[in-house]
Amino acid sequence: MSRILNGIVATCPDLGIGRNGQLPWHPTRLNEEFKHFRRMTSTPSMEGKKNVVIMGRKTWFSIPEKNRPLNNRINIVLSRQLKEPPPGAHHLAPDFCSALRLIDTQLSDQADQVWVIGGSSLYKELMESQGTRRLFVTQVLKQFECDTFFPEICPAKYSLLPEFPGVPQGMQEENGIQYRFEVYESTDVTKNH
Ligand SMILES: NC(=O)c1ccc[n+]([C@@H]2O[C@H](COP(=O)([O-])OP(=O)(O)OC[C@H]3O[C@@H](n4cnc5c(N)ncnc54)[C@H](OP(=O)(O)O)[C@@H]3O)[C@@H](O)[C@H]2O)c1
Repeated sequence: MSRILNGIVATCPDLGIGRNGQLPWHPTRLNEEFKHFRRMTSTPSMEGKKNVVIMGRKTWFSIPEKNRPLNNRINIVLSRQLKEPPPGAHHLAPDFCSALRLIDTQLSDQADQVWVIGGSSLYKELMESQGTRRLFVTQVLKQFECDTFFPEICPAKYSLLPEFPGVPQGMQEENGIQYRFEVYESTDVTKNH
């Protein structure tokens, strides 16, 4: 059985996720939202294993240098141009399928959950791929100017879950910015055949 793949993102109302290589709300920080990201992506479901985060090259470089690699997680960076992992990254893959293959082969003993953490094209590839996919979306209710966007969540493929373990419910607020956590799960069409 193929593994569940997770995506995690924080979006503005227009689905904007970034601007000038930073988060849209930069320099404002959403610390509790960030803690949610850290908790979800770093908590393995099996003791002794580590979760994997997969990200595009620009997302890697959007992380402040002092926070790279994201700790307690295996960091895989995707690039078609780089020939070796950027300093600090654990692995480099030339495409999404190669990253998944790496996890299922070389990293199979240590890897637990797989989290796609951006950016745009990687989210799209995840969302359009076959299999069970979960999208952990923070809906930020304030609009900021953005130049990078999250793909539309296809309602025929993804359902909003009423709740999910470990994900706070209801409206959250930090620094005058309201947001709420949502979790979507794909219906794996291959199961119906
Ligand atoms: N709000 C959020 O939750 C969130 C999350 C993540 C990122 N962001 C923001 O989004 C922006 C960065 O995202 P982005 O969409 O511009 O860039 P990105 O996807 O992080 O990086 C794009 C680069 O990654 C590589 N890449 C992407 N998909 C690939 C694939 N399938 N195979 C091989 N290489 C691949 C390519 O690198 P090469 O050019 O080296 O080939 C590509 O140019 C920043 O502003 C960041 O702050 C926000």
